[in-house]
Amino acid sequence: MAKLKKSRGNFPGSNAAPQSGSHQPSDNSAGELADLETIETAMEASHKTVVSRDKEIGEMAEKPSGPVGLDIGTSHIVMAQNAGRHINTVNQLNAFFTIPYSKFTKKILVENDITFYAKEDQFYILGYSAENFANMFNTNTRRTMEKGILSSHEDEGITVLQSIISSLLAKTDQQEVVCFSMPGEPVDGKASVVYHESIIKMYLASLGYRPISINEGLATIMSELADDNFTGIGISMGGGMCNICLSYLSVPVLSFSIQRGGDYIDSMVGASVGEPATRIKMIKEGSLNLARSPQDRVETALDIYYVDLVSHLLGTLEHELRTTDKMPNINNALPIVLSGGTVLPKGFQDLFEKGLRKVNMPLEISEVRIASDPLNTTAKGAMVMALSEEI
Ligand SMILES: Nc1ncnc2c1ncn2[C@@H]1O[C@H](COP(=O)(O)OP(=O)(O)OP(=O)(O)O)[C@@H](O)[C@H]1O
Ligand SMILES: [Mg+2]
Repeated sequence: MAKLKKSRGNFPGSNAAPQSGSHQPSDNSAGELADLETIETAMEASHKTVVSRDKEIGEMAEKPSGPVGLDIGTSHIVMAQNAGRHINTVNQLNAFFTIPYSKFTKKILVENDITFYAKEDQFYILGYSAENFANMFNTNTRRTMEKGILSSHEDEGITVLQSIISSLLAKTDQQEVVCFSMPGEPVDGKASVVYHESIIKMYLASLGYRPISINEGLATIMSELADDNFTGIGISMGGGMCNICLSYLSVPVLSFSIQRGGDYIDSMVGASVGEPATRIKMIKEGSLNLARSPQDRVETALDIYYVDLVSHLLGTLEHELRTTDKMPNINNALPIVLSGGTVLPKGFQDLFEKGLRKVNMPLEISEVRIASDPLNTTAKGAMVMALSEEI
C-alpha cells in the first residue's frame, strides 16, 4: 500500500469544526501517537470489504459503539460501521407513504412492526414499508429529497427524513462521531446545500452524536483511493445528482455537483417513450445492458440519456477544471473512480471512457475505475473519515 504522509490530527478533507491545534505539532507525543494510530485505523478500514443488508421491517434502530458513516441520498440512506474484518452497512429507503388515520389501522400497523408516525389525520409510513404500501395501492412512494437535497415540495419532508434517520440511528449519550455525506454546491441549478446541511447537522446533534459532514465525491475517494494516496477524481452518480470531487492527498481541491442522475434518466426516457418513470426505472435496474445494441425503443432511449448524462457531466468537469483558480500543480496522471447506483449497468465503464475521449481535460487521467460496491461507497468513505475524527 502506498504511504500517505500522515497529518497530525484529522484528515485534512473533513469538514470538522477546526479544533485548536488539531493540525499543529503537539507537545504531547502520546497524543500524536494516538492520532497517528487513528489515521492508520481509518486507512486500514478503507481496504475492508463491505457486508451490506437492507433494513428489515420492524428492526429497531442501532446505538453504535464507534464512529458511523451516514450516506443521506435522494433514494437511500445507508449507515456504515466498522466491524472487525468488514464494514457493515444497513440501508433504508428514503421514501414515505401516507394513509388516513384510524384506530383500527394503527393496531394493524403496530402488530406488523411497520415504521410509522401519526400526524393530524394521517399515518406516515416510512422506508421499505412505504414501498410495500405503494405497490399494494399501485402508486408511487413520496420522497423527502429531490435532486440531492431536501425537497421544497414536501411540507413534512424534514420530519419524515428525521424519522427515517432515527429508524437507523437511536438516541445516544456517547457523542459518537457521525460523518454524513453532503452534496457539493450544484453548478447547474439555483439550489444551495447550506439549509439541507444545517438541518441534518442539528438533528444528528439532537440525537446525541457529533456530526461532521463530508462531500460525497470526497467520500468516494476516501473509500476507493487509499492506494493512490487519496489523490484523484471521485464521482458519485446517484439518483438525484452526480457529485464530483478532485482531491490531492485527501484534501478536496475542487468539488461540485450537477442536479441530474438516475431520476433524470428515468423521467427523460419516460417522457420520450410515453411510459411512467417508475416503469423505466424498473427496466433500467432489472435488465439494462449498455454493452449491447438496444433491443427496443425503451433501451434506445435509455442509451441516449445515459450518453447525455455522461457527456453533460464530463463537459461540466472540463469547464470547472479549466476555470478554477484552485488547480494544484499535479504532474502525475490521476485515476477517476465512479460510484453510486447509476454506474451499475453492464457496459457503463466503456460508455464513460468513450465520453472521456471526446473531451479535452486539462489534466491527464490514468484510468477509470468502478468502485468495488457502488451502492455502499459513500457510506464506507464517510465511515473512514469518521474513524479519523474519533479522538
Ligand atoms: N442495477 C441498477 N442499474 C441501473 N441503475 C440502478 C441500479 N440500481 C440502482 N440504480 C439507480 O441508482 C440510483 C440510486 O443510486 P444511489 O442509491 O447511489 O443514489 P442516492 O445516493 O440515494 O442519491 P443521490 O446521491 O443522488 O442523492 C437510482 O436512480 C436507481 O434507479
Ligand atoms: Mg448518493
